[in-house]
Amino acid sequence: MSPTDPRAELRFDGTPVPFVPGQSIGAALMANGISSWRTTRVEGRPRGLFCGIGVCFDCLVTVDGQRSQRACVTPAHPGQDVRSADPSTPLPLPGAADE
Ligand code: FES
Repeated sequence: MSPTDPRAELRFDGTPVPFVPGQSIGAALMANGISSWRTTRVEGRPRGLFCGIGVCFDCLVTVDGQRSQRACVTPAHPGQDVRSADPSTPLPLPGAADE
């Protein structure tokens, strides 16, 4: 990828975040100085990229309304709405919305 490639933008918690086409969401966040985007449930410790290869699930974000997406393996796209995870809000149980 050349440095002359046009930059695109996603939005992270409402803030524009430029990225280079081909980057993952995690790479785009890190390249813009955002190294933590969720906290642990028990002690509130910051979490972001750890393994960087989709194994540890430390990097979860909500992407266009889809919760628990791994930022490190999810490609960045222009206009994406990326939200930091809120571990204090439990995920709905499957089928709970139907009841
Ligand atoms: S950093 Fe480990 S799954 Fe994303």
